[in-house]
Amino acid sequence: MPSDTKPIIAPSLLSADFAQLQRDIQMVNESEAGWFHIDVMDGVFVPNISFGFPVLKYIQKYAEKPLDVHLMIVDPNRYIDRFRDHGADVISVHYEACTHLHRTVQAIRLSGAKAGVSLNPHTPVHVLHDIIEEVDLVLIMSVNPGYGGQKFIERSYQKIRELKEMITSSSSNALIEVDGGVTLENAPKLVSAGVDVLVAGNTIFSSTDPPHTISLLKG
Ligand code: DX5
Ligand code: ZN
Repeated sequence: MPSDTKPIIAPSLLSADFAQLQRDIQMVNESEAGWFHIDVMDGVFVPNISFGFPVLKYIQKYAEKPLDVHLMIVDPNRYIDRFRDHGADVISVHYEACTHLHRTVQAIRLSGAKAGVSLNPHTPVHVLHDIIEEVDLVLIMSVNPGYGGQKFIERSYQKIRELKEMITSSSSNALIEVDGGVTLENAPKLVSAGVDVLVAGNTIFSSTDPPHTISLLKG
């Protein structure tokens, strides 16, 4: 993405008010956000449980923008077709959760979804060297996965720059997404470092004017 292009904003529904989920989905529909970011946690890969298919069914029903599904689960291969059936447009799996990552990425693409791979803060970018041309998106975790509202890990800038270099020096068209601790303050710096998609939960849903915050994040 050229540096003068604005990022896609992907509000994380993990920080939405689940008692008012339809209202919050409608807010995102009417905002400048590009995608819905959907965090699925299994209590095994990460120390938290979020939601699964029954909730996703209603997100699918009301959301009018692409669903960007971030799977923080072990053995995600088992559920790819079900997530696709529940409206997932992008399915990201964790590098750390996939023994046969290449096979899983192929299965995601075969389902018709875009294939994303997510890296935990401790996982170096170079592990993607042999698969970067097969993936549609790389999700850099800038906090340890499991919870919203955590502090951004500064080392992430370096990882984003390395990833950008890996993508531009190959024939990959992968988008770079950053997830965790994104704020109005660090968003422009992340975009300058090469980020195409900004995920934000707490920054958007804890603000007094979420649609305005989305527009400020977009820049
Ligand atoms: C964390 C999730 C994030 C989370 C981001 O495991 O992957 O998507 O919702 O929340 P904030 O933006 O509040 O750090
Ligand atoms: Zn996420």
